[in-house]
Amino acid sequence: MNATNGPGAMPDTIASIAFDAPAIAAAVARLAGEIRRDMAGEPVVLLGVLKGALFLIADLARHFPPEDDIRIDFLAVSSYGNADRSSGEVRLLKDTSESVEGKNIIIVEDIVDNGLTLQYLQAMLASRNPASLRTCVLLDKPYRRAVTVHLDYVGLQSPDAFIVGYGLDYQEKYRTLPYLASLHTWVFEAGALPAAKGIG
Ligand code: IMP
Ligand code: MG
Repeated sequence: MNATNGPGAMPDTIASIAFDAPAIAAAVARLAGEIRRDMAGEPVVLLGVLKGALFLIADLARHFPPEDDIRIDFLAVSSYGNADRSSGEVRLLKDTSESVEGKNIIIVEDIVDNGLTLQYLQAMLASRNPASLRTCVLLDKPYRRAVTVHLDYVGLQSPDAFIVGYGLDYQEKYRTLPYLASLHTWVFEAGALPAAKGIG
């Protein structure tokens, strides 16, 4: 840890902060404004992809005034591949609790990398006949795309690095950091690369 203690402290494994808490908050506020403008008073289900979208959906949802009909649901997937690249083999670990049929669904996802996870989710949810299906992501890595996926709301352009914090993990660590940061390359070299990218 550096000299400062507390939740904002920076572990030695962090190379640099990509976006600090105020920058994330500004992006999330903008996303909520865009969603609210588009929903035009219609009920909306914010469908968070666990676990990465945990803080995003919590912060996003609290921007809507009480008269808006905003519901929250979750699903969980695991994507297999290398530590930093998914293969497209996506497994549904937890399905939604409510039916998506006839609802205005907004997928809320932490980051789009090669796009295979989102492609799977969009196809699966579209087949269930929602009234509308849109996608909101906090971070985008467009230069890493293996498949084309449509994104309706994009918070921030990610630097070309593996990002942790604000819900995003490396081997289940770092999710609780209040900022988005890159890790030193020695972190990946030191640990054996996992076979699975894990949950969300
Ligand atoms: P994709 O299928 O390659 O688009 O991967 C999407 C999922 O992989 C995201 O929902 C994350 O869970 C994970 N992921 C991709 N890139 C990163 C990253 O830079 N940091 C943390 N997780 C990531
Ligand atoms: Mg995720």
